[in-house]
Amino acid sequence: MTNLKGIALPLLLAFSLMHFPFSESLWFINYHIHVTKDLPLFKTPPGRPNLFLNCKSKDKDIGDRPMVVGQDYTWDTKINIAMSTLFYCNARWVDHKKITFDAFNAKRDESRCRKYHNSCMWSIRSDGIYFSNNNATWQNEYPW
Ligand SMILES: *[C@@H]1O[C@H](CO)[C@@H](O)[C@H](O)[C@H]1NC(C)=O
Repeated sequence: MTNLKGIALPLLLAFSLMHFPFSESLWFINYHIHVTKDLPLFKTPPGRPNLFLNCKSKDKDIGDRPMVVGQDYTWDTKINIAMSTLFYCNARWVDHKKITFDAFNAKRDESRCRKYHNSCMWSIRSDGIYFSNNNATWQNEYPW
């Protein structure tokens, strides 16, 4: 009888996981978020960075960093069970513009960012923050 319990319980658990509202594999996907600086060099004070980026979630701060052209600011995240995972970024183009944008929003991005190596790609350009989910075509989702 004890042996049967030992088998039945894990089996029951496995079946209940299979019937959870969304695919169990979603919890284990490691999403990669990339933000690159593709700004022109104009308006750059000599020898000083002209763009700072700080991305964070409610409980994790990736850091406030000066960005050089082509630099890749990147981190990974998984999606929480409530599907409420949200990372936003503050971009400051010194003496020029600033903006806050959602770099990873589980509800918006869980599907579209699975297309290319589980990556969400953002490019900071002079007219806005561009998104790509294939690293080939880009759309200005946050004009600034
Ligand atoms: C996107 O493409 C560029 C240029 O080919 C490459 O350097 C970069 O690593 C790619 N990014 C990702 C996330 O694959």
